[in-house]
Amino acid sequence: MLKGKNVVVGVCGGIAAYKVVDVVSRLKKQGADVHVVMTDNAAKFVSPLTFQSISHNPVVTDMFDEPKQWNIQHISMAEKADIIVIAPATANVIGKIANGIADDMLTTTVMASKAKLLFVPAMNFNMYANPIVQNNIKTLEKLGYLFMEPETGTMAEGSSGKGRLPEPVNIVNRLNNIFNDKNDMYGMKVLITAGPTREAIDPVRYISNHSSGKMGYAFAQEAANRGAQVKIISGPVDQPVPQNTEVTRVITADEMYAEVMKCYRDFDIIILVAAVADYKCKQVAENKIKKTGDEMLIELVKNPDIARELGRVKGSRIVVGTCAETRDLIENAKSKLVSKNFDMIMANDVTMEGAGFGTDTNIVKIIKKDSSVIELPLMSKLEVAGRVLDEVTGLIIKEDKHGN
Ligand code: PMT
Repeated sequence: MLKGKNVVVGVCGGIAAYKVVDVVSRLKKQGADVHVVMTDNAAKFVSPLTFQSISHNPVVTDMFDEPKQWNIQHISMAEKADIIVIAPATANVIGKIANGIADDMLTTTVMASKAKLLFVPAMNFNMYANPIVQNNIKTLEKLGYLFMEPETGTMAEGSSGKGRLPEPVNIVNRLNNIFNDKNDMYGMKVLITAGPTREAIDPVRYISNHSSGKMGYAFAQEAANRGAQVKIISGPVDQPVPQNTEVTRVITADEMYAEVMKCYRDFDIIILVAAVADYKCKQVAENKIKKTGDEMLIELVKNPDIARELGRVKGSRIVVGTCAETRDLIENAKSKLVSKNFDMIMANDVTMEGAGFGTDTNIVKIIKKDSSVIELPLMSKLEVAGRVLDEVTGLIIKEDKHGN
């Protein structure tokens, strides 16, 4: 969606400026034409040459530089831009633009442009919470400027709060979303399970699997991009939380089961992507188990099957299952579709190159209740999620909303 778009990236002086190099790199990979404008302060954090090398375009800093490509650079950039993204957007630049001050290349470009504009603030959390900054943000939002919320976490100065620049992947996803006309999931509530579960053996060991959470989080990202309200119930993974989604973290299958059962009634669509451990230890050792004989037996007992229980109580909610198989993909998937009462199942053969656990891509088959199979080629997990959600929204259009 960003292919061929003219994106002006305004970089302000903040420690997070270095992260914007990754944003520019990702935009280039998606085929955007990227022009970087830096404030003087930004150039103290990251060299303009770095952005020039990544964007393959001259970087503009000084208003009175020799024009490098266009006659009046800020006017030309302002006119050509499909979107301007300011990241990190400092309190200073937000304040200047909110009050009509245009005293450098970035602010004059903004003032001269009719393009969409996305601010990605990043600053000390006390600064971000300051009512002056918040008022300036409100003023700009009222004028139609777009904002991304900063993330909460440890700041450069060591303390923790809301003020960190969102992950580059989330910034680029948001930009994609701005050009994405699809808002077809607006008003829908989507619950997603993602990642693995861990079943303790003793205080230092556990049984688990290779799920990274990428597929589940891609579903969350795509559904949120399309306007849905999204909650992820996530096993232990190290994935950035997609913008505009909420995450509840769990460790074990029992915890995931309890969390899903607690909240599923609030959702219209439930997508079960988690690789839930089927078994747990009958007894978790209180202390670290010592090495004794050559063999060791661990007695396992069944975990609750979240999907099966949801299939029983779901009412008219749509429940989508997934399955990771190493053989007889379609047969196994069809059998789970029926036994767990799914409305649809996404099956991936995890032995295929580029599919399954840990990869950024997947190769899946979507199997519907009428036994029809849609075979998809190798795609990014975000694209796979998009195709599955296309099928899900197709079902919703056909069905009435549940009355529970
Ligand atoms: O996380 P990634 O690294 O991106 O990898 C993605 C994935 C391969 C984990 C994902 O695409 C996937 O296939 N997830 C399902 C894993 C699986 O094998 O599920 P299953 O066949 O054990 O279970 C079938 C369905 O029942 C799944 O929807 C599962 O979430 C659900 N289930 C299973 C057991 C259980 N106790 N409770 C459940 O809800």
